[in-house]
Amino acid sequence: MRFKRTRLSLAIVCLITVCSFAKAQVVTIPVETIHNALVLQTDARKNLKMVYFGAKLSNAAEYAAIKKLYKPNDDSGILDDAYTPSGSANLAEPALTVTHADGNKSLDLLYVNHTITKADDNVSLLTITLKDPAYPFEVKLYYKTFYKEDVTEQWSVITNNEKGIVTLNKYASANLNFKKEGEGFWLKHYHGNWASEMKPEESKLTHGIKTIDSKLGTRANLYEPSTFMISMGKPATEDEGKVFLGSLEWSGNFRVDFEYDPADNLRLIAGINNAASEYRLKPGEEFTTPALVYTYSDHGRGDASRQLHRWARQYKIVDGNGSRLTLLNNWESTYFDFNEAKLAQLIKDTKKLGADMFLLDDGWFGNNHPRNGDNAGLGDWQENKLKLPNGISSLVKEAQANGVKFGIWIEPEMVNPASDLYKAHPDWVIKEANRPEKYFRNQLVLDLTNPKVQDFVFSVVDNLFTRNPDLAYIKWDCNAVIYNAHSQYLKKDQSHLYVDYVKGLYKVLDRVRARYPKVPLMLCSGGGGRVDYGALKYFTEYWPSDNTDPLERIFIQWEYSYFFPAIASSNHVTDWGKQPIKFRVDVAMMGKMGFDIVVGKLNDKDLGFCQQALKNYDALKDVIWHGDQYRLQNPWDNDAAALMYVNDSKSKAVVFNYLVNNRYGTGTKSPIRFKGLDPQKKYTVKEINLYPGSGSVLHDNQVYTGDFLMAVGINPEISSYHTSVVLQLDAVN
Ligand code: DGJ
Repeated sequence: MRFKRTRLSLAIVCLITVCSFAKAQVVTIPVETIHNALVLQTDARKNLKMVYFGAKLSNAAEYAAIKKLYKPNDDSGILDDAYTPSGSANLAEPALTVTHADGNKSLDLLYVNHTITKADDNVSLLTITLKDPAYPFEVKLYYKTFYKEDVTEQWSVITNNEKGIVTLNKYASANLNFKKEGEGFWLKHYHGNWASEMKPEESKLTHGIKTIDSKLGTRANLYEPSTFMISMGKPATEDEGKVFLGSLEWSGNFRVDFEYDPADNLRLIAGINNAASEYRLKPGEEFTTPALVYTYSDHGRGDASRQLHRWARQYKIVDGNGSRLTLLNNWESTYFDFNEAKLAQLIKDTKKLGADMFLLDDGWFGNNHPRNGDNAGLGDWQENKLKLPNGISSLVKEAQANGVKFGIWIEPEMVNPASDLYKAHPDWVIKEANRPEKYFRNQLVLDLTNPKVQDFVFSVVDNLFTRNPDLAYIKWDCNAVIYNAHSQYLKKDQSHLYVDYVKGLYKVLDRVRARYPKVPLMLCSGGGGRVDYGALKYFTEYWPSDNTDPLERIFIQWEYSYFFPAIASSNHVTDWGKQPIKFRVDVAMMGKMGFDIVVGKLNDKDLGFCQQALKNYDALKDVIWHGDQYRLQNPWDNDAAALMYVNDSKSKAVVFNYLVNNRYGTGTKSPIRFKGLDPQKKYTVKEINLYPGSGSVLHDNQVYTGDFLMAVGINPEISSYHTSVVLQLDAVN
């Protein structure tokens, strides 16, 4: 087996259904969550079809009647397969294309049986076995449902039972079919680049295939992430409409095809990008594809995103229901130019500010090739003796002496040609021996398909913790893409490189988590080049973008927030942008707050404001991290953006309002309606994060019912004089 997924450890295992291949009757398989259902059904030939997706029916027996209500959607009946094979009777865009051991390229997949296992009351796993009647070739489809969260993870496992090698030419994780709906389907997807992540575009899908993909290898989301949103029937709004949110749990090349088919249905095929990535399976080997995670709501994007957030906190990101550390980072205040004395001051500043931890960024390592710029040192993970003669351990102690924690930056997958590592192990580097080296940020990517490289990358982390057991945090960066994709280790299996790289990365991260299960890790990739749930399974938080201009961040954080929960969004206050410190802090507060400024340069008022804001954050972080998020007014269409968080018991909430348009006279002319409150409860509404010396524009401590706040709202009086306003709501008895 080349690529095996960790099996579910099932607390309760119950075999619900086992249908034998011999029986000819139609089999209907509903995949239900609390509100939704996806229904699969066999036809007379035992082809498995996806016949329904949408609101769950109250009588599950009626799912069986759905398919016959639709006229065949095409002459060939090929457009609604649950997992489309290629090269036989099915001519539609395939989920799976193979070359059999004998060179034959045809594939047919027929239903054999299915089982449902329950991990607990909330989590179930449906497994459906499909087999080719002509070849000993098997595919298992997996649908793991999170009932209360309305979330499904879907993937496939492909097994070669033939006598020779089978090549997988395309191997999708999931193939979904959505029946014709209203005016059609709208796809919202994202593009971007360094410092301009998550730029949305939404358009109506026209007939044919629209594909979003990445071929960058590492930093795969630099130009485009695999996260997307489909509105069905008409464009969904925050609170209305049918909407599907999806994201591939994979940190490498991906491909998602959206085919608006001739019958006006939508076919979705998502998985690893097969470009230059044919995968050979030896006899008896299986290949597990990464999961596509998705959720659906017929109450708009807000509801769908809250479902995904709940799932991510409960089941995916590390310590999703736990706590996080506020921090002071030195990247923007020192870049590579620091020494022990400077850092000792920054550690003191961390304490003075009131943050939990000091995070030492890039530049602390390399001796023969000191890391004094981005052109040397990557790979040589020894403290630079000139900058840090007493090593990291003395800094950890310094932090402890000052009552704060200490964290550190690494980029262990990378190497600069100017490094001892490169000279010692040229065979560990991904490059074409016969071509000139091509660098991205002056660096190359280490070959994580090679177990020795995996050991090395693991040792970078392990050595840091072994030598510094009190190290509290790691920021894991990844700044280069893969050029000249060639692995000396893979020899004749070069087309496995992109896949086995990610697999190697996950092996390392598995080892890190096995030994250090709790330690907070930040997922960074020169900004948001690797924000996906495949990686977030190992991390506590991600770095959305190097662009920390708060105005830009409002838009970037807004778009990420549809897919990833606030607790995972690292938002730092920096000197980017022209906005006052209050605005910068208020924007950082809508997620996991940190600072990357020169505290020593803050005037007394700015410092006092930041210190107070951290105290306010302390009192509200539980609501922001673990509460429900409601987007009230989007930054794209309004002068002011507003969003809020409400805790589970609806006793506490916080509302963030930001001016996003600087033209004359802009601001909030009318109240902004709140969401998610208890209409029966009464709430005090108080402005917090007031800049020293300035009063609130609101009448303090006014009490309103949740009903009033949701039907009428509050005008936060956003204007060029009050560019950001943070409101705290507390239920009164
Ligand atoms: C890119 C990251 O996004 C930055 O935050 C910083 O850590 C630099 N790398 C350091 O080289």
